[in-house]
Amino acid sequence: MKKRVKKVISIIGVIVAIVFAITCGVYFVFLHRYSGKNIEYAWSMSDAFEINQIGTVTKQKDKEFVILNLADVQMCDLEDFFHMRTIYNELLYLVRETKPDLITLTGDQTWSNENLISLTTLIGWLDSFKIPYAPVFGNHDYGNELNSAVASEQFCCDLYEQGKYSLFKRGPSNLGSLGNYVVNIVEDGQIYKTLYMINSGYEDTISDEQIQWVKWNAEGIKSYNHGEYADGVCFLHKPLPEYELAFENYILGDNSVEAVGDVNVHYSLFGSQQNGFFEQAKNIGVTDIVCGHQHGNNFTLKYQGIRLTFALKTGELGGYYEDDKVYLNGATTIAFNNNATTIDSHFVERNKFHI
Ligand SMILES: [Fe+2]
Repeated sequence: MKKRVKKVISIIGVIVAIVFAITCGVYFVFLHRYSGKNIEYAWSMSDAFEINQIGTVTKQKDKEFVILNLADVQMCDLEDFFHMRTIYNELLYLVRETKPDLITLTGDQTWSNENLISLTTLIGWLDSFKIPYAPVFGNHDYGNELNSAVASEQFCCDLYEQGKYSLFKRGPSNLGSLGNYVVNIVEDGQIYKTLYMINSGYEDTISDEQIQWVKWNAEGIKSYNHGEYADGVCFLHKPLPEYELAFENYILGDNSVEAVGDVNVHYSLFGSQQNGFFEQAKNIGVTDIVCGHQHGNNFTLKYQGIRLTFALKTGELGGYYEDDKVYLNGATTIAFNNNATTIDSHFVERNKFHI
């Protein structure tokens, strides 16, 4: 065979191999659907409560415990592919600034149907910080429509559960959604706080089963806490209806609604519909509720004894809020020291990390 023919064949071979590799890459990253493990765990109110089933994170005695909450990071495989370093740099900055003991993420960590690279990348970053983290799902994490994404709800659970520093658990499979779990902050062998991580992402309301399951956990933990409800903090994605009520009463001058820091409301406060979650929270020792979802809002309002925090949207990409006067981007810290709670917004200026 002539040299020239051989050369043409080898060039064609290389081209075919490249096209094949690109086709496989596109297929497995953007078109294939990863359904994940189908793990059935049907919880019942009559189940025995086991404290050792609950993840823990340790608080050092007489030292402040800082939670860094990242809200609506909203990474997207396609739009953010060449900007992921921008998001990483902001997260790294926030971690270094606030030195958290725990990182919580209140949903919409990704926002498109193309979520595989984004989520695996984010989990890699979180593990690289070597700080425990606890995410909940929002209404975009496994697709702009329920389970329309490359990585399904169950596959996202698989990925989060594999994270080295992840406290995430998929929880029972009969609550209407996955990713409902509890974390205890423990100090000196005693329960210091209980964190209720709730999936309020795709459904219009938090389910009755979720409400009963939270109560079951609170009662179970109470039996290990000298017969008293542990101070509780709920992390969920969508604001409860009480956020809107608290804000309405606040702007009407109701002195019983107390603002902690600035109150920024530039977008709808609509989220989960009423189903009694807040009323129950008041009765089981919950002191704080933290949500995300609408990027134009950021406040803490103490309403009927519970601090309702609308966490600051994290990451200047993915639908951050700005108008002529306001640019909202950064993260929120919730810090506990003995009986005191401090909530702060850590604003990141425009284009600080944009590459
Ligand atoms: Fe959302």
